[in-house]
Amino acid sequence: MTSRLRPPWIIALVTLLAAALGVVPAAGRGVARAADAPYKDPSLPVATRVDDLLSRMSLDDKAGQMTQADRGALTTVSDVAAYRLGSILSGGGSAPSSNTPSSWADMYDNFQRQALSTPLAIPMIYGIDAVHGHNNVVGATIFPHNIGLGATRDPDLVERVGRATAEEVSGTGIDWTFAPCLCVARNDRWGRTYESFSEDPQLVTQMTTIVDGFQKAGNASILATAKHYVGDGGTTGGRDQGNTELSEADLRAIHLAPFKAAVQRGVGSVMVSYSSWNGARMHGNKYLITDVLKGELGFKGFVVTDWAGIDQLDGQTGFTANEITTAINAGVDMVMVPNDYKKFISLLKQEVQAGRIPTSRIDDANRRILTKKFELGLFEKPLTDRSYTSTVGSAAHRAVAREAVRKSLVLLKNAGNVLPLAKTGGKIFVAGKSADDIGNQSGGWTISWQGSSGNITTGTTILQGIRDLVGSGAQVTYNRDGSGIDSSYRAAVAVVGETPYAEGQGDRTGSMGLDSTDLATLQRLKASGVPLVVVLVSGRPLDIAGQLDQWNALVAAWLPGTEGRGVADMLFGDSAPSGRLPMTWPRSADQEPINDGDGKDALFKYGYGLDYTVPPPQSPPASPSPSPSPSPSPSPSSSPSASPPAGGCLVTYRTNDWGGGYTADITITNRSSSAVNGWRLQWTYAGNQKITGYWNAVVTQSGQQVTASNASYNGTIGANGGTASFGFQGTYSGANATPAAFTLNGAACAVG
Ligand code: BGC
Ligand code: BGC
Repeated sequence: MTSRLRPPWIIALVTLLAAALGVVPAAGRGVARAADAPYKDPSLPVATRVDDLLSRMSLDDKAGQMTQADRGALTTVSDVAAYRLGSILSGGGSAPSSNTPSSWADMYDNFQRQALSTPLAIPMIYGIDAVHGHNNVVGATIFPHNIGLGATRDPDLVERVGRATAEEVSGTGIDWTFAPCLCVARNDRWGRTYESFSEDPQLVTQMTTIVDGFQKAGNASILATAKHYVGDGGTTGGRDQGNTELSEADLRAIHLAPFKAAVQRGVGSVMVSYSSWNGARMHGNKYLITDVLKGELGFKGFVVTDWAGIDQLDGQTGFTANEITTAINAGVDMVMVPNDYKKFISLLKQEVQAGRIPTSRIDDANRRILTKKFELGLFEKPLTDRSYTSTVGSAAHRAVAREAVRKSLVLLKNAGNVLPLAKTGGKIFVAGKSADDIGNQSGGWTISWQGSSGNITTGTTILQGIRDLVGSGAQVTYNRDGSGIDSSYRAAVAVVGETPYAEGQGDRTGSMGLDSTDLATLQRLKASGVPLVVVLVSGRPLDIAGQLDQWNALVAAWLPGTEGRGVADMLFGDSAPSGRLPMTWPRSADQEPINDGDGKDALFKYGYGLDYTVPPPQSPPASPSPSPSPSPSPSPSSSPSASPPAGGCLVTYRTNDWGGGYTADITITNRSSSAVNGWRLQWTYAGNQKITGYWNAVVTQSGQQVTASNASYNGTIGANGGTASFGFQGTYSGANATPAAFTLNGAACAVG
């Protein structure tokens, strides 16, 4: 290479000139020195590359790395290069004018080429809220919102959801998702309750497998964000961006716990919460950001603010130099400005030059950001990997979403076993404002920030799912408001609930009941005398106690996303309901906040959910059993008197293995003619498997002997084919063989 022979001072001069002019240095000139630089060498350790790169960076470069602007705020694309922007984001609904996967990829590459044109050619990292699939992109697969994923109790499935999302995100070039929300929603009035996997920190912790789904997706891996740190779901009154008034012990037990798990999984970034803790804004909280997160928990990634989060520190609109200094010195590494990035950079530099922000803090922030960029492979593969573009909305991903929908549904009432509905014969009436509305069933953060009703993206509505499933087997009549029903129908399915909302606008301070449109629809259906099945599409439990006795069946469908067929599958028995409540269901709105273990008389307690094979109780379950607040664990309720199933049982044991680790899904089928009340499943491993975590059961291990006892909510396994499922994760070396034999309450089971 001729450039190697060029005297260094010429190269330096050209580099300086190019930087000053903001022009693209042609190959063989300014970049030549960088091309030989250690930081460009992928064979060197990341830390060495970071050190080398950092030693070459000016304050302009470093300030730029810490700046994140919204794509829509850029005055011109070349500002990415001129201001050395380290990151760009799309806020909710911030999309290229042609909202197709390849336009997104083109837009991304265009920004990236600007970043690569700078002397050091540091790639930018692009972030987006892919919070239930790649939800800003028309045609992407929209998965159930987190509340539904929490109901599945299936960490392996949730990891697969993360991986599918990562592939779709990668196919549009984007490197980073602002997900998962590890919020532990303690008050359903909060408009972000649906972004929470559960009110129970343990369940939220189990669902951090989604971080692995995002970050361990092979070439499609993207950076995950644990948000919003910390206490966002604990605000007084459930007010968005409000004040979380808790002792430090409670803050740690309820809200910090899931972040600990995410850090252990190597989550790449953490987003600070808008909320305050005991009156102090989180964006300025050095103790929690630096001492606890980075120190105590050992977080090695970078901390990003929320959208204009620093602006709120002094209670005045806009940001000041002082607010920048407070946030950066508290431990923030990157600021989601998102609009006036020019002013931000100039104030940040001014604060460093004046010594109010130590250079060591700036270097630490850059080190953290650059480490993640190197680890992601951005320096080697800065542009979109178009081999993933066709996965956006692919059949394979929609199949994962449909599975997630099926497993997220919680059957809350099934009087007279009206469900499942027969697929053939007679007529079925479908009604309700959310029966044929892809926007309603997807909720907020879909195509636009707040989401909207209507035909906003590609997918299958619940009505369409029913029609596809039933085919010509039965007549399906649809009328949105229920008009036209008469007694000739064998069942009415009403799909009602909430219309889309997101942060702020979704807070409900007053009633939490159904709206007048829904009540009128339900009234019409009820008046016909036809058995009424209610499918509730909502971001949280609603106040329905006043209507429940008029309904024959109730299914909580949460916000299922684009794969409405999954709802039909369960209504018609192609899948069995297996979801369990991730939130306590209040008897009335004035019980809020209501959470497991607080002694309040819930309508349906945390963890409740019926199976098809278990006869429903006469009335909804009584008050929750008192258990210690705030983090009750599933307690085994199998009694010593639990008897073995006469006539047998079947156990299926499936594992998902990776180098040294695995998750296992176990289903017990009761083949006897009486229900099993309280169960204990035991087996002995031939290998050296070691169980490290579990869900939907309490699993203990002594040597190679394992005992799994039912959780409080799945102790009954119905007669003649009823099932109970649970899972766990563990480690092994050598082979991870399936155990040869299982006993259920002492009796041998068949292995399937
Ligand atoms: C939300 C975050 C989101 C960010 C970027 C904020 O208003 O609180 O959850 O990641 O905007 O869209
Ligand atoms: C953006 C969102 C952001 C919100 C913050 C909206 O304009 O689209 O992404 O979370 O502002 O208030």
